[in-house]
Amino acid sequence: MQFPDYRPRRLRKNENFRRLVRETIVSIGNLVYPLFVVGGKGVKKPIASMPGQFQMSVDNIVKEAREAQELKIPALLLFGIPDKKDEKASGAYAKDGIIQQALKSVKEAVPEMLVITDVCLCEYTSHGHCGIVEDGRVLNDATLELLAKTALSQAQAGADMVAPSAMMDGQVAAIREALDENALEDIPIMAYCAKYASSFYGPFREAAESAPRFGDRRAYQMDPANADEAIREISLDVAEGADIIMVKPALPYLDIIYRAKQEFDLPLAAYNVSGEYSVIKAAAQAGWLDEEKTMFETLTAIKRAGADIIITYWAKDAARLLNK
Ligand code: PBG
Repeated sequence: MQFPDYRPRRLRKNENFRRLVRETIVSIGNLVYPLFVVGGKGVKKPIASMPGQFQMSVDNIVKEAREAQELKIPALLLFGIPDKKDEKASGAYAKDGIIQQALKSVKEAVPEMLVITDVCLCEYTSHGHCGIVEDGRVLNDATLELLAKTALSQAQAGADMVAPSAMMDGQVAAIREALDENALEDIPIMAYCAKYASSFYGPFREAAESAPRFGDRRAYQMDPANADEAIREISLDVAEGADIIMVKPALPYLDIIYRAKQEFDLPLAAYNVSGEYSVIKAAAQAGWLDEEKTMFETLTAIKRAGADIIITYWAKDAARLLNK
């Protein structure tokens, strides 16, 4: 195929030709909408670093769930911000914890909506690390027990799927075992397998009030320089029983998404994280780019790289666009 016999522009002439040969389709059914739950009533507090996103009390989370349902979004991902934090992250696995309350109310009001819960301790610990800290170190095995307890408590409160994001070794196996022992063998695990120590989480840490009080997360989250290691991390989680594998962040790690799709035969999720959202929001607010088009190009790129599922703060905007 060579010019002038082959002219690729022939099939780009108008929108119907472009639609006809389009390779990648973003669909609402593959979107997951993350939300931040806080205590109180009638709370809808804007998150300054993430324009258009809010910390919401359970009553408003329920409203949001209804709206998401109307837009045909299949799933929410809930993050909890407890009133009190402590060394042991008690709020994460408390029976009346903020996530447990949100689960009960959302599942009651909008039963078909899938509610996925983040399984991590950083939002609940006073020091902001994802596990138990001793002498300035995050302990792996002691943390596993609390992660398993948290996942179990969430599943018992009605979570449809749990998503461990703490990056502790062995967390998927620990959670699978706890669920199975409690007759919750039907609850799937979406594992944050390849989660990088990324600066793109900056805005989220304001949203979830989960920035570490000392040090950083590089002793448990992955080094952004590594790709082969992502494959090893995913292999471990698959062996431990992950039902859905995840790469996070998305845009700066499209190569990892691509490789994960080639090498593993499981549904693959990508997390289009807070920083990826906020940089585009900020640029759009400055009038430097078109938010809707840039958002859609971003989601398309993540899908094209191989993601089956996209977790994105733009879920509602994307759904509105796709429902048109
Ligand atoms: C940890 C967690 C984080 C995100 C999701 N789960 C933050 C972190 O690891 O510091 C980041 C999500 C985002 O930036 O949108 N529980």
